Amino acid sequence: MAKKFLLVTLLSLFLVVSAFSITYVVGTEASFPPFEYVEKGEFLGFDIELIKEIGKIKGFDVEIRDMSFDSLIPALISGNIDIVVAGMTITEERARMVDFTVPYFSANQSVLVRKDSGFNITVLFGKNKIGVQTGTTGDLWVTENLVDKGFLSKNNIVRYDTFNFAVRDLINKNIDAIVLDNPVAERFTKTDPVEIVGIIITNENYGIAVKKDRKDLLNTLNEGILELQKNGKIDELVIKYFQ
Ligand code: ARG
Repeated sequence: MAKKFLLVTLLSLFLVVSAFSITYVVGTEASFPPFEYVEKGEFLGFDIELIKEIGKIKGFDVEIRDMSFDSLIPALISGNIDIVVAGMTITEERARMVDFTVPYFSANQSVLVRKDSGFNITVLFGKNKIGVQTGTTGDLWVTENLVDKGFLSKNNIVRYDTFNFAVRDLINKNIDAIVLDNPVAERFTKTDPVEIVGIIITNENYGIAVKKDRKDLLNTLNEGILELQKNGKIDELVIKYFQ
């Protein structure tokens, strides 16, 4: 009897504990300030707080995993991670492979150069080296609009795994420009000797991504985003990270 009671107690305790401690593995690429970046060994940023806030409302914990941007979707599909929050633009091609939540942020592309380099937007149309992050919409734009159309030799597009390396190479004069999301370019102008010389209007929307067979998780995330939009928390995060 006592044994049975103990067993039942332990079992219910286990059920209660597990019900409150779902942990989702969240993939990101953390060289994308202010959306995701590492400071003193900690993952910080708008996206990181966003997913944690959704977790608070919806009752899950997150474990952040940093990986190269172009391996995020494969990692979702193979089940190595549950969620991608990475300033990831909702594109038709990606939406064929994974599901996206409702948009939570909008962005365009920017052309970033060294400060006082004298370059303007024509930097893109010469014999200059243009840096991008592999697999991003910046990479896609440069490939489709410059390389494929013959404005830029394919040897002059330099692909990086992280924006930290791209910006370092820009400052060291190993490349002449970087094409990247405008909010992130803006942030780099505040921390590094670089400036924006042009905006490319691409009208991108960021979404959180999950594997296609996880509609429940998708609904949970959508509800979380809508709630945070309603209760003003997203606006708070925008002010915290963009002012
Ligand atoms: N928005 C762009 C894209 O989806 C760039 C995202 C890069 N994100 C990152 N965490 N490095 O392709």
